[in-house]
Amino acid sequence: MHQSILITGASSGIGEACAVHLAHKGFRVYAAARRAEKLRELEGLAGGRITPVALDVTDDAAIEKAMARIAEDGATLFGLVNNAGVSVMGPVEDTPIDEWRRQYETNVFGVVRMTQAVLPQMREAGRGRIVNIGSVAGRIATPFHGVYASSKHALEGLTDSLRREVEPFGLKASLVRPGFINTPFGNQEQEQLQAHVDAGGPYADAVRAYKLWHAKGHPTAPGPNVVVDAVHAALTAERPHSRYTAPASNIGSLLLRNLLPSAVMDRFLKRITELK
Ligand SMILES: NC(=O)c1ccc[n+]([C@@H]2O[C@H](COP(=O)([O-])OP(=O)(O)OC[C@H]3O[C@@H](n4cnc5c(N)ncnc54)[C@H](OP(=O)(O)O)[C@@H]3O)[C@@H](O)[C@H]2O)c1
Repeated sequence: MHQSILITGASSGIGEACAVHLAHKGFRVYAAARRAEKLRELEGLAGGRITPVALDVTDDAAIEKAMARIAEDGATLFGLVNNAGVSVMGPVEDTPIDEWRRQYETNVFGVVRMTQAVLPQMREAGRGRIVNIGSVAGRIATPFHGVYASSKHALEGLTDSLRREVEPFGLKASLVRPGFINTPFGNQEQEQLQAHVDAGGPYADAVRAYKLWHAKGHPTAPGPNVVVDAVHAALTAERPHSRYTAPASNIGSLLLRNLLPSAVMDRFLKRITELK
């Protein structure tokens, strides 16, 4: 009997890699995202253990429909990987409130909606794992990343509370924090930064400099497999960690962030992002 898991944001990048790898490891994977045509490419891989599910994590009706689709198979979900995410880049001052809402609807409220949808069946089964995909940006917020970084900071607190709430029911919750990973994510971040440069204004020169630093991050970063290994560990370890950092080379920066005074961290980030 294969354990069933639902992965959001499985049409690309980390989520797609998780779907394929975890299906190969023997999980029955429900691969969810908005682009159904991209998900169909996964059908037939890994012994046919991947089932595409069209799902927008910001849409209550779509979530209900997806849960009904999974129930039709008679599957009880063992795992939920809350991976779907978008990134809104730009200065705090210049980012319209609707863009803040778009960020939070997917990265925070989407995680809450999905978690609320699966918890009843997991509690009833007395077993289950929730794995939230956070970010190193959930602890270290560079300039012009405040919208996204704050959404990932929210997942740090949300996952801590959740873990403590569900533990008495036999359920586990972990946060996986990727650093730069080479996926299509970086391209849309670059486009947004360029739009802020083109719009001009008081931050334009600094955003241009930051964009040059940011451009080097994703193409030279490891692929999604480093994150997949952490997600696999969170789903299968007898005692999963509360947090996984992938790749592990980011642990040093996170330790420094915890130890150093903010003023020192500010100077450090200014230097590495090459901002004046
Ligand atoms: N790449 C990195 O450097 C990095 C670093 C730290 C954390 N992360 C986190 O890792 C996760 C995956 O990112 P990635 O790098 O794999 O990016 P990606 O390749 O752009 O994939 C993002 C996925 O999220 C899905 N998605 C976006 N909005 C959605 C919505 N409303 N409902 C359902 N699915 C939605 C997209 O599918 P559709 O468009 O088909 O819906 C896509 O499958 C995100 O949470 C991101 O914040 C990434």
